[in-house]
Amino acid sequence: MKKIGIVYSFNTNKTSKIAKRIADAVEGTAKVEMINVEEITAEQFQKFDNLICGTATWFDGELPNHWDEFVPDIEDMDLKGKNIAIFGLGDQKGYPENFLDGMGILAEILEAQGARIVGFTSNEGYNYESSRAEKGDQFCGLGIDYESQGSKNKERVNAWVKKLKMEFK
Ligand SMILES: Cc1cc2nc3c(=O)[nH]c(=O)nc-3n(C[C@H](O)[C@H](O)[C@H](O)COP(=O)(O)O)c2cc1C
Repeated sequence: MKKIGIVYSFNTNKTSKIAKRIADAVEGTAKVEMINVEEITAEQFQKFDNLICGTATWFDGELPNHWDEFVPDIEDMDLKGKNIAIFGLGDQKGYPENFLDGMGILAEILEAQGARIVGFTSNEGYNYESSRAEKGDQFCGLGIDYESQGSKNKERVNAWVKKLKMEFK
């Protein structure tokens, strides 16, 4: 499998921990490069055919600033042929009406540029009211909730990476 770029903010707490866990799970199957979205260039982002992007949801249903600042660059890209998987962090008890919205927003932006979003997961086992990441009975990526379901992180990450190994090219 081709090298995978994992893009997230190095200055986050929980998103960084999950990014490292994902990198460990991928190791052995593909090479991985960790990239800080706060310093990334459009060129660096576009050099990968397989990408994993990580984002939390902040500000009641918004993307964190570090992703928001990179959106104008993404909107100038042609992402046809790119396989992009997204992991999102959210808090279903604290923000049940906007659970994982950031993941949904990022997927919409990337898809609009032609990317193929991979790594959908079932929304079973989560309890929330609404989410922009919801697509039918699935999420458009991996949903992680440290606040109320942190004990499931390990098994969720491992199952997701197993699925990605089949969906990435
Ligand atoms: C001010 C604030 C607003 C938040 N808004 C949302 C939200 O709208 N939806 C959601 O699912 N989680 C929300 N969260 C929860 C975070 O996404 C969650 O705690 C996440 O694990 C933070 O990851 P980080 O440490 O990488 O920033 C919010 C957290 C804070 C502190």
